Amino acid sequence: MRNKKVNARDQYIRDLYAAETELLTQIRATLAEQNLSIHVSPEEGKLLQVLVRLHRSKHIVEIGTLGGYSALWMAEALPADGHITTFEKSSERAEMARKHIATSPYTKKITVVEGDAHAMLREHKGKVDMVFIDAEKTGYPDYLEWAEQHLPVGGLLVADNTFLFDTVFSEAPEGEAKMWNAMRQFNAALAERFEAIILPTAEGLSIALKPAK
Ligand code: DHB
Ligand code: MG
Repeated sequence: MRNKKVNARDQYIRDLYAAETELLTQIRATLAEQNLSIHVSPEEGKLLQVLVRLHRSKHIVEIGTLGGYSALWMAEALPADGHITTFEKSSERAEMARKHIATSPYTKKITVVEGDAHAMLREHKGKVDMVFIDAEKTGYPDYLEWAEQHLPVGGLLVADNTFLFDTVFSEAPEGEAKMWNAMRQFNAALAERFEAIILPTAEGLSIALKPAK
């Protein structure tokens, strides 16, 4: 569903600001071979990295690991005692991500948890000051509930695909009402309950801070 063609504007940003490590380039190629080019783009990866630095995030929860691409972008921005716990439902994807992370300098900084995040998050006992949601779109409202309960005041929530493939601001596509309603609900809840905005990336990237009550 992601438009893989990079326009001149994004290419310019990519060339100037978002150079990948060799490993990141290799992960992107591996995912493309498997028709899984649904990860964030290099420039979105760099944006996540800058957000981690700006917010001084230390304890990140990522929902939707895929090949570890976004986690590895974020890991580079973490302080020495920072950590990412990333949840992945598919065992194949979790295994692939672990393999990629094992060849990176961030093996100790990233933990891949395999299983359904809706359940696994409730078992997660670690601290969290940033949550990145990039998993199945019908799940976003429930992930938001968890994030709102577990983030401290000032905690950062980031979510990919909040334009829902350019449908969220118009009609629900045929047969996609469940996903469309979920994203409408998610975006409305963020607007109401967080200090939030959608950055108009190709996919829509929401950034939101948990306000003081
Ligand atoms: C899809 C999922 C994503 O998270 C994304 O960024 C693009 C596409 C998908 O499921 O098709
Ligand atoms: Mg996404």
